[in-house]
Parts: sequence; C-alpha cells; structure tokens
Amino acid sequence: MKITIIGSGYVGLVSGICFAKLGHEIACIDKDETKISKLKSGIIPIFEPGLKELLDEAVAAKKISFSTNLKTALSDSQAVFIAVGTPQDEDGSADLSYVLTAAKEIAELSNSYKLIITKSTVPAGTGYKIKQLITQTNPQLEFSIASNPEFLREGAAIDDFMNPDRIVIGVEDEKAQKILSEIYMKFPAEKLITSDIITAELIKYASNSFLATKISFINEMADLCEIVGGDIKQLAKAMGLDSRIGEKFLNPGPGFGGSCFPKDIMAILNVAKEHDVSLSLIDSVITSNKQRKIKMVDKISAALGGKISGKKIAILGLAFKANTDDIRYSPAITIIKELVKKEAKIFAQDFEAVENSKRELADLKNISFFTDPYEAMKDADLIVIVTEWKQYQKLDFTKSKTKKIVDLRNLFDAKKMREQGFEYFYIGGKN
Ligand SMILES: NC(=O)c1ccc[n+]([C@@H]2O[C@H](COP(=O)([O-])OP(=O)(O)OC[C@H]3O[C@@H](n4cnc5c(N)ncnc54)[C@H](O)[C@@H]3O)[C@@H](O)[C@H]2O)c1
Repeated sequence: MKITIIGSGYVGLVSGICFAKLGHEIACIDKDETKISKLKSGIIPIFEPGLKELLDEAVAAKKISFSTNLKTALSDSQAVFIAVGTPQDEDGSADLSYVLTAAKEIAELSNSYKLIITKSTVPAGTGYKIKQLITQTNPQLEFSIASNPEFLREGAAIDDFMNPDRIVIGVEDEKAQKILSEIYMKFPAEKLITSDIITAELIKYASNSFLATKISFINEMADLCEIVGGDIKQLAKAMGLDSRIGEKFLNPGPGFGGSCFPKDIMAILNVAKEHDVSLSLIDSVITSNKQRKIKMVDKISAALGGKISGKKIAILGLAFKANTDDIRYSPAITIIKELVKKEAKIFAQDFEAVENSKRELADLKNISFFTDPYEAMKDADLIVIVTEWKQYQKLDFTKSKTKKIVDLRNLFDAKKMREQGFEYFYIGGKN
C-alpha cells in the first residue's frame, strides 16, 4: 500500500523504514530540508541501531522516498500517518500545534479520500479536534480519522516495531479499520487491539504513566534501602520474579527522562485537570522524579566530602538512556547544569550524544566534551556513570587518577569494585 508519513523523526522514520520492509511504498515527509537531504543521500540523522541497514535495503527495493513536498505524496496515498512532535507546552499540556498544522496541510492539499492516522502521542480528544479542523478547512474532502499510538523504544526501535507486544488501533468506521488491518496484515491478527479513538489515545498515556510510576517506585525503594541498610538489587530481583510484577522497569537510576515519559505524564495530568479528575498518583510520580535528579547531585556531593566547587567531575553518559543520541529530559543534562552552578569542572562523555549535548549546554562554562571515556576520566577527581552504555562495563578505571566512582546505573558489583580498591558508590545499597 502507498502510505505517506508526515514527520521523519525518531518515530516517523523508524515507522516508515519498517513499513517499507513490510512491503509498503512509503513517502516520508519532513519540513526540515537538511534532514530530508541527508536521508536522500542515505544518511540517518539520528542514532538508532540497525536503521541504516534497513534504510539501504528499502532504498534499493525502491520502497521508500523522502521529500518536503506533501502535496505530491498525498496525491498517491490513501493512508497518511501524522508522526510529528508533541512537545510539552509551558503549562505542561501537550503542544498540539505541529499535529494540527499537519492535519490542516492534509486538508488543504488533498482532493481524494484520506485515512488520517495519528501516530504522535496526543491527549484524549485530539482525534476529534483533527476531524473538526479538516472538515472546516476542506468541507468537500472525504476522510476518516484513526489513532495508532506508537510504543517503540529508542535504542530498540526496530525490534519493537517489528515484534510489537500489541498494535493499538482506534477507529470509528469500517473503512478505517479495513485500511489499517491491511497496513498491519503481516502481523498476527491477535496483536491488533481495536478500540474507539479516545481509548486508543488514552492507552498510550496510561501505559507510559504506569511505566514511569514503576521506575519511580523502585527509585524510592532504593532510597529506603540506603537508609535502612537493604540492597536494591536483591530486592528488585525478588520482586520481579513475581509474575504479577515482572522484572522490567525495576532498575533504580537517576530518574526517568527521554522524549516520552516526562512530557506524557504531564500531559495526562493536564487532561485529567481539564476534566476535574484527580490523578494524585501521577502527580506524586512527577514530584518524585524531579527530586530524584537533585538527589543524585547530593549523592555526588557526598562522594566528594560535600565540596563540589573546583572539582573535576567526569560524567559518563549524556543520552537519557543507552543506544540513543536523544538527550531530551536526560538526567545527565540536569545533573550537569546543577554541578556547574556549584562550580564543578565537567568532563562530559557520550558515545553518540555529544553533538546534541553541546547544543543544549552551549551557554555553560567549565564543560568539555569527549567521545572517549578514558579522555574524559583521566584527570577527574570523581567519575559519575549516568547512562547505562554497555561499553562502561569493560572500562579499565585504573587509567584514571581517581579511585572514586559514583554509579547511578548500578553497572558493577560493589563488593568486587571495593576489593579492587575503588571508592564505589551506587544506588540503593550500603554506600
Ligand atoms: N521518540 C520516541 O521514542 C517515541 C516513542 C513513541 C511515541 N513517540 C511520539 O511520537 C511523536 C514524534 O516523536 P519523535 O521523537 O519522532 O519526534 P521528532 O522531534 O524526532 O520528529 C518530529 C519530526 O516532525 C517534523 N515535522 C513537524 N511538523 C511537520 C510538518 N507539518 N510537516 C512535516 N514534518 C513536520 C519535524 O521537523 C521533525 O523532524 C511524539 O508525539 C512522541 O511523543 C515518540
């Protein structure tokens, strides 16, 4: 099937390339000309493992094209996905301006039936806003709307897309259902969960809110372990073996970040407030996660005997998690900003996220960037591991002049590290 995807970012691009792999003919559209010209030359503008190989395959099979011209793409396809950003607005709600602009453009540029599918994460009720806008803009246009929220995780996006736990489809008419079933025909039928549009929109927010809650829960248990003398690793392992709980998302850390959880839980809270519904649990998760990042600075300060000013601190990991270059709401960025305020000298390292971090932290003094962890840590007074890049597990920390390591991802066995002479601090244990 010929499909147009508006927005060629993390979600639009991965979806487009994976749909092409499934045999569809994909037109990927973006307003960002630099992004499109890179993609046309076979360059992937983001870091996502395996995506380049799939792109080359799709291009060779002539299954994918990239353009800034929406009109031409629309003239060819019945199905249009909206996969543009929905960043957090100043009041915490989801900024729908990109989604609504894309919807308006579809209405203005279409003259035959379109199924308009929202893949972006949007608050309940957005589908109907899109419907209203399209009807107002082009009253003659025959169209359906649908919601198909995306659950892929950056860093494992291809596998998540190709082997989904479920595919959620929110529809209000049979034609939309039929087209979406065709788009996803290569997946087992039982993976397709069909609902009304509002429920589909809510499923995405509810899922992310639940996962964020799970992370905050284990982070708070880690704090308790530190105070009463328990060990979070043993606790989480035992909890996770209970099939009602499950082992995933039970790793304590510096707080959740990324392009989804922080903004999505703020957005669901806003939706609830608009309708006078209290989501006190979600409210607490937001507070808990904000405090978490500051607590990590306290932990770093404690490791330095309470004196941060003038200290050289190597920060290993800038991306919000491993295997991505995404630094949106990354704990490392908040931690660095706080440490610089306290007059630390920062040696910031990441394998993929240095360029994005340089842009984000351009105003800060006393910070230098490295892709080589040895360069970042060699003269440091303290090493802080913030992102769980696997490569850190193989580092020879004796190449640094410091013996002090704060590990915010619990990558090492504390006993072994201490036996090797390191002053090793971790989350949720006897520090
Ligand atoms: N990043 C993730 O892991 C992830 C996972 C699931 C869902 N989501 C959701 O998917 C949506 C997209 O997220 P993302 O991370 O891919 O965003 P992104 O910022 O990486 O990409 C969005 C792209 O849309 C383009 N764009 C904006 N308006 C446009 C328009 N009118 N026409 C053409 N292009 C336009 C931008 O130039 C940008 O390239 C968000 O709602 C997000 O919450 C993201």
